[in-house]
Amino acid sequence: MKSIRKLKYGIVGATGRMGQEVKSLALSAGHDVVAEITSKNLTQYLKSKKSQRPDVWIDFSTPEALDRLLDQLIQYPTPLVSGTTGLSANQLEKIKKYAKKTSVFWAPNMSVGIALITKMLEAFDSYQDFDFQIDEVHHKLKKDKPSGTALLLQKKLIEVLGQKNIPAPLSIRAGGVYGIHRIQAFSDEEIISIEHTALNRRVFAKGAMWASQQILHYKSGYFEMKDLLKI
Ligand SMILES: NC(=O)c1ccc[n+]([C@@H]2O[C@H](COP(=O)([O-])OP(=O)(O)OC[C@H]3O[C@@H](n4cnc5c(N)ncnc54)[C@H](OP(=O)(O)O)[C@@H]3O)[C@@H](O)[C@H]2O)c1
Repeated sequence: MKSIRKLKYGIVGATGRMGQEVKSLALSAGHDVVAEITSKNLTQYLKSKKSQRPDVWIDFSTPEALDRLLDQLIQYPTPLVSGTTGLSANQLEKIKKYAKKTSVFWAPNMSVGIALITKMLEAFDSYQDFDFQIDEVHHKLKKDKPSGTALLLQKKLIEVLGQKNIPAPLSIRAGGVYGIHRIQAFSDEEIISIEHTALNRRVFAKGAMWASQQILHYKSGYFEMKDLLKI
């Protein structure tokens, strides 16, 4: 995932675990970080007319922070990459509305690996005779439960299998785990287990940086991982 051009980045959630990772990656790739939003300066930033406007925002914050930012940005639309999870249906709709004005990428998981295993689930299309269970493990400080990724995988299974009942994902919050997701399919004779483990946070930051370069090719539109990877 190589940088294409030097950009001015704005980071929402700049002091957070992901925000810090994105900042370090952006600076090491030779980009500028011209705006850093946290809970302490969001209001001040939104009110100030002199605030530096980035070429693209990368957001890893909270649903509330993203919500407030979107209300304001609608006046001067700027491309946005968001990985914030725990969004309500209304908040996701708001992102899609904003995407009518500029290009927007949202993914509850920015890793290529999760995009690929989501695609793999399509193989179950012709094999309905399995019982499914998704489970996930994340560090103790993660706020949402189940993870946005587990919900994405559940949604995909429902899409692939039609009316079949897919139980709610099981969640464990423990230690410093960056993210483990597993889909199991059980029949009377066999068990299929598909598992993805994030080995660090950089995998998500790299995905976000890559997406930020990709969406700048479009004037507007809402994109998810499958759209940009064309899978
Ligand atoms: N899509 C992916 O691949 C992916 C990967 C990892 C995490 N995530 C998601 O990304 C989000 C952030 O995760 P994290 O682990 O980095 O969280 P974190 O360490 O808790 O950081 C949260 C950041 O948001 C800021 N913030 C909180 N409330 C705010 C407000 N009202 N206005 C403005 N800024 C506010 C915090 O600022 P203060 O320091 O001032 O509190 C902090 O900078 C979560 O939703 C998480 O699930 C997504």
